[in-house]
Amino acid sequence: MVQGFTQVAANGYLLDQFLLWDTKGHKDQWGGSEENMAHILLEVLDAVTQVGLRLSPVGYLHLEHDERGRAVFDYLLPKLNHYPFAYVHTGMLEDTPYPHLGGTVTQYIRRLYDGTVIACGGYDTDSGRQVLQQGDADLIAIVRPLFANPDCIEKVRSNQSLTSYSADMLDTLI
Ligand SMILES: Cc1cc2nc3c(=O)[nH]c(=O)nc-3n(C[C@H](O)[C@H](O)[C@H](O)COP(=O)(O)O)c2cc1C
Repeated sequence: MVQGFTQVAANGYLLDQFLLWDTKGHKDQWGGSEENMAHILLEVLDAVTQVGLRLSPVGYLHLEHDERGRAVFDYLLPKLNHYPFAYVHTGMLEDTPYPHLGGTVTQYIRRLYDGTVIACGGYDTDSGRQVLQQGDADLIAIVRPLFANPDCIEKVRSNQSLTSYSADMLDTLI
């Protein structure tokens, strides 16, 4: 039994590859239908407790987008309500609306999953506050502004402007 991990099923990681159609290869019990594709994640979840799960149902990173993916997540997300999750976390770079999901990935997850939802993907304090006020998520994860501003929280509290993120900054962190 494993306790306390996250980020297992988004952004091209192993379990994400079972959830999205771009895997192409699975002709076994883990491929070919919504139920089969969701099954390996449910098997893993049966073996863990206190898990926080990251999902990216639109396959925007490393895997090809395929709108049939919605049916996999329509099947999977209601099943997640039966697990004692800490949260389900949107795994997006930009949490923008997708017509086939009827909104952002976070809004879509919120509609089908009853537990704590963490929105992520391009939010700042203003847009994050709006998402919380709309009830689309319980918490907001903010990543790149934190890389660019290790003092981000003090700056936001004292209304100072934030340094913009640039990938070049990552070299200075090593
Ligand atoms: C340098 C960097 C590394 C990242 N590594 C991962 C990762 O390993 N796994 C993952 O799911 N997302 C990863 N992400 C994506 C972030 O978790 C997040 O989804 C993304 O940055 C959007 O949030 P933001 O707009 O608040 O930055 C990474 C992002 C950056 C900038």
